[in-house]
Amino acid sequence: MSAWPCSFFRMRRSRRPELMDQPGLELAEHVRALQGLGRINVLSRVGSVLWPSIERLARLKGMNDRPLRVLDLATGGGDTPITLAQRAAAKGLNVEIDGCDISPQAIHYAQGQASARGIRVKFFVLDALSERLPSDYDVLCCSLFLHHLGETDAIALLSRMAAVAQCLVLVDDLVRNRWGYLLALAGCHVLSSSRIVHVDGPTSVAAAFTTREALDLAERAGLRGTSLTRHWPQRYLLTWSVQ
Ligand SMILES: C[S@@+](CC[C@H](N)C(=O)[O-])C[C@H]1O[C@@H](n2cnc3c(N)ncnc32)[C@H](O)[C@@H]1O
Repeated sequence: MSAWPCSFFRMRRSRRPELMDQPGLELAEHVRALQGLGRINVLSRVGSVLWPSIERLARLKGMNDRPLRVLDLATGGGDTPITLAQRAAAKGLNVEIDGCDISPQAIHYAQGQASARGIRVKFFVLDALSERLPSDYDVLCCSLFLHHLGETDAIALLSRMAAVAQCLVLVDDLVRNRWGYLLALAGCHVLSSSRIVHVDGPTSVAAAFTTREALDLAERAGLRGTSLTRHWPQRYLLTWSVQ
């Protein structure tokens, strides 16, 4: 039988700078984009996807004396750490979640979101590519960031995350294929009025890695035994545990 259905869904990787990464974004436009991203994150259920391994670790460690510490890199509007902190609080687990991003404007927005919900999450500015990653976290995670990077930077980031994480690295991102591209094109228009989201959504899918490429990057970064699971909508989660 012909393999055309598979090849139809395949796309060549194409990386273009995302609007949200441009310095000097106008505040109102940036906030509208982060709000749109927030709605996409709710629909993609990223918090639910990351939470089980964090919960398992928190219970396994039985950390009564100190909290399980989690850091979300390139956190944007802080949706992921806020959701994870809400889950931890609901389960009465001693988990401390922080988020960081290169953009002071995004960090200010994220901190405001956490405060408005009465959630304790600490946000701080950090360039995940050029600054030293803090080594006092059990879990390092990131979502919708790997696809921003060229292969060399992606491998370096994974390797640096693994070097400092005391227990676990979680990387969630988009799967590159035409189906995901069409979903992003339609979904971003339905979920947001932000021009940044409209442009960056499909751009992100085109820049994303396939699941095979993502596993290959993890292997080349020295993250032996990384597992990959797919989840709605056209996303994957890489999970690597310290041996
Ligand atoms: C597509 S957004 C994802 C935000 C969030 N993780 C989420 O899933 O909603 C990408 C984020 O990466 C941030 N970013 C870009 N380059 C960065 C870097 N070198 N270090 C840290 N954050 C960076 C941007 O400011 C932006 O907030």
